[in-house]
Amino acid sequence: MINSSVKFLTIEGMEGAGKSTNLNYVIDFFQQRGIPFTATREPGGTEISEKIRHLLLEHHNESLAPLAELMLIFAARAQHISKVIRPALEAGQWVICDRFTDATYAYQGEGRQLGGEKVELLERFVQQDLQPDLTIILDVPVALSAARVEQRGGELDRFEVEGSDFFQRVRDAYHQRASEAPERYALIDASQSLAQVNTELQNILEQLLD
Ligand code: TMP
Repeated sequence: MINSSVKFLTIEGMEGAGKSTNLNYVIDFFQQRGIPFTATREPGGTEISEKIRHLLLEHHNESLAPLAELMLIFAARAQHISKVIRPALEAGQWVICDRFTDATYAYQGEGRQLGGEKVELLERFVQQDLQPDLTIILDVPVALSAARVEQRGGELDRFEVEGSDFFQRVRDAYHQRASEAPERYALIDASQSLAQVNTELQNILEQLLD
């Protein structure tokens, strides 16, 4: 049984939205208040799920079929839920997860154009009643996201090589989901200064603790 005062928090955002920096801010917030939590990520979060993450992010000689990509993501998620997320929630810890199923709706459902129905089917099958209590979306326009990725340099993974049409669909999907269930989402304009984003984050987290 999961105690209702314990919350499952997820953070989403496109490449270059400052997700890692802001995630650290959220972690500091919980640490400073002495709230027990587990911080984890998707795809990944367990030994086996991290191996699936490599399969998903690396380039291969053959292309990965979008449906196979979707199934791998949910295989990693099933393992992650079973080994990390549910046990943590049941032990009374908050869970802060870097990406979750909203990313699948955005990247596979819309980016890869598989459609939301397939994602929903697997979501029900794999998660049953498990849903985040709050999803924070760090939102940046596609052009700014691309500019930040370019500035960062280094090799691009199998998602980062996608073009602006793909990322526009991803961004639109996040907006769509946030507008359909505003009580479950906090959409933050991540093109603002980091200080402004942190202030918004702090307000959101304080409300969540009330
Ligand atoms: P990261 O950049 O947040 O570490 O995530 C790795 C990539 O995985 C990112 O480009 C988004 C992608 N992804 C999906 O396509 N579908 C998903 O369900 C998840 C969780 C991530």
